[in-house]
Amino acid sequence: MTVNDYKKRFLDQLPAFYDETERLNLFNMAMEFALKYSKADVVLNGNESILIENQQKIDEVFNRLQDNEPIQYITQQANFFGYDFKVSPATLIPRPETEELVDWILTEMKKQPQKKWQVLDIGTGTGCIPITIKKEFPLAIVSAIDVSVEALKIAKQNAVNLQAEVTFIQQDILQTEGLDAYDIIISNPPYVRNLEKAEINENVLQHEPHLALFVDDNDPLIFYRKITQLAHKSLNENGMLFFEINQYLGNEMKEMVSKYFKSIELKKDFIANDRMMKADFPIK
Ligand SMILES: C[S@@+](CC[C@H](N)C(=O)[O-])C[C@H]1O[C@@H](n2cnc3c(N)ncnc32)[C@H](O)[C@@H]1O
Repeated sequence: MTVNDYKKRFLDQLPAFYDETERLNLFNMAMEFALKYSKADVVLNGNESILIENQQKIDEVFNRLQDNEPIQYITQQANFFGYDFKVSPATLIPRPETEELVDWILTEMKKQPQKKWQVLDIGTGTGCIPITIKKEFPLAIVSAIDVSVEALKIAKQNAVNLQAEVTFIQQDILQTEGLDAYDIIISNPPYVRNLEKAEINENVLQHEPHLALFVDDNDPLIFYRKITQLAHKSLNENGMLFFEINQYLGNEMKEMVSKYFKSIELKKDFIANDRMMKADFPIK
């Protein structure tokens, strides 16, 4: 089999739930994973025969894609903010919406570039948020919490691989009485209601950790309320609380957070959904 033979197989034979652009992207990602080929290498070496052991790797990617497994779990890698993060079935795959949240946070931090910002991320998964902040803002002192031991193993590996000093803490935030003092508290907690399951792609439902995604329909703000209360007590003066939020619950979020903070800003993501919130000036 040559590189071009595989291209044809990916374009012609992947199931219909991948559109044409996705098929080409998946092919390129498979070539990068198995052969370390860039897109340019793929074009230049189209007629090259592939070694049997590499063919086996590509075949495995192809077969798992047919089973609707996200490519990031197959290659065990996801790009976030230009950094390569290891992912596993214990971690959510980092999303572009979360990159937008990090971008907003960094914009605020850069207003005081010499400040040794004390930052906490709650529900860290791969560690994509705290590690990116530490990489982009080396003066910051960064910690992160997750309840999942398996997710924290991956987050710690990512911090080592990307040479970012982050303190990781295994803790159930819903059972937490109080936090240390921080300038910035961030969270992208579980926020999908069971009633929204019908809108979620099958590959997410089948493969991503439900612990990272779902909340009870009867109390979808459970994490936000707890974290808002903890942040209200523990943020330093002029501290800020940042959330990624459920697009359908922007108004409910505003109402809940406004009981604790005077200033609240909602932002939309790149597809114009309410997706991020900043709160500051705690009500004393
Ligand atoms: C939506 S994921 C976010 C992961 C990562 N921050 C990101 O943006 O890609 C939510 C994370 O919260 C963690 N989590 C769920 N329940 C938790 C709890 N009670 N206490 C702390 N973390 C929790 C999950 O393990 C998961 O890693």
